[in-house]
Amino acid sequence: MIWLDVLSRQRLQEILARYADQRIGVIGDLALDAYWYADMTRSLLSRETPHFPRPIVREAFSAGAGANVATNLKAAGAGQVTVFSVLGEDWRASILAGLLASSGVSVDHLIATPQRSTSAYIKPILQGFDSQQEDSRLDFENSAPLSPALEDELISAVEQQLPDLDSLLIADQMPMHGIVTSRVRDALNRFAARYRAIPFVVDSRHSIGLFQNMILKPNRMEALRAARPDRDPHAVPREDLAAIGMSLSAQWDRPAYITLGEEGVLVCAEGQPRYLPAAPVHPPLDVVGAGDAFIAALAASLAAGATPWETGAIANLAAAVVVEKLNQTGTASPDEILARFDRATASDSRL
Ligand SMILES: Nc1ncnc2c1ncn2[C@@H]1O[C@H](COP(=O)(O)OP(=O)(O)OP(=O)(O)O)[C@@H](O)[C@H]1O
Ligand SMILES: [Mg+2]
Repeated sequence: MIWLDVLSRQRLQEILARYADQRIGVIGDLALDAYWYADMTRSLLSRETPHFPRPIVREAFSAGAGANVATNLKAAGAGQVTVFSVLGEDWRASILAGLLASSGVSVDHLIATPQRSTSAYIKPILQGFDSQQEDSRLDFENSAPLSPALEDELISAVEQQLPDLDSLLIADQMPMHGIVTSRVRDALNRFAARYRAIPFVVDSRHSIGLFQNMILKPNRMEALRAARPDRDPHAVPREDLAAIGMSLSAQWDRPAYITLGEEGVLVCAEGQPRYLPAAPVHPPLDVVGAGDAFIAALAASLAAGATPWETGAIANLAAAVVVEKLNQTGTASPDEILARFDRATASDSRL
């Protein structure tokens, strides 16, 4: 009865109901995901070049990276969600800001500048008579670091809003030239030390070990990269991961969550590691966006006063909702999280 040990239905309802009072900031890399559908049955050989053009018959866009985390927070019922980032002045920025605004995310503190290119990942999907195939992705990324002036502008936007936030989530996603530069990270580390009552929650692909006084959410790979880069991530037993999680947690006296994909999460807090299995799911599965749903529920639950263990269980539930949503990044509403709790506890009691 591991779910009921950690989280009762009543507590879950109480915590979810408190999401509406939470004001949560998301600072980090935002991206636009685009899907361009080319109907190749309509393609006629070009007169100028020996190529078949790709007639785009449909396009679809979704919010990616930190923008998807913000969208998840709003879908989970967070009262106020504000994004802090730097975009270009281009068509991707307009579409992305429009998507965020239509989900209810505040874009008032986004910085737009011609010096930057708004990140986008475009997936061309070639459709034939009765099959389709994804072609090479087209990526828009930045080729230069964020300038010091833009770093300052971003840092001061966050600094001004922090006293009015109940949690700040950091989405440090880009391997190169993202907005969480070492100067931005240093500033966030200082803010986390200054505002100790506000949970700062970090998702960082490459630098989770460099954030201070924050709640860390690495996956298995990210935790090992930070703590034991010498070890093969696929060959590390859970007890060793727990020891790594405990040292990450002890360093800043904050909970650390090592997510384990289909196995769930290791919650390391208050001197005690605890393994919480993933919520049961039924195939077919689409794990894209699981990490984003997890961390959004994590930040909202901690802000709402949940214990570290309750938070781990709720984040597992939110991620499980998204994992069952196919062909979309997906979000989890409070009702869906509650329904997932009922399913998890029903299957738990059959064990
Ligand atoms: N197959 C699955 N079944 C059930 N839950 C899952 C599954 N895969 C992932 N999850 C849930 O999602 C959470 C996060 O997954 P994971 O550890 O893969 O994070 P991540 O690597 O950060 O994900 P992402 O690739 O989205 O960034 C897990 O802790 C678990 O709760
Ligand atoms: Mg992740």
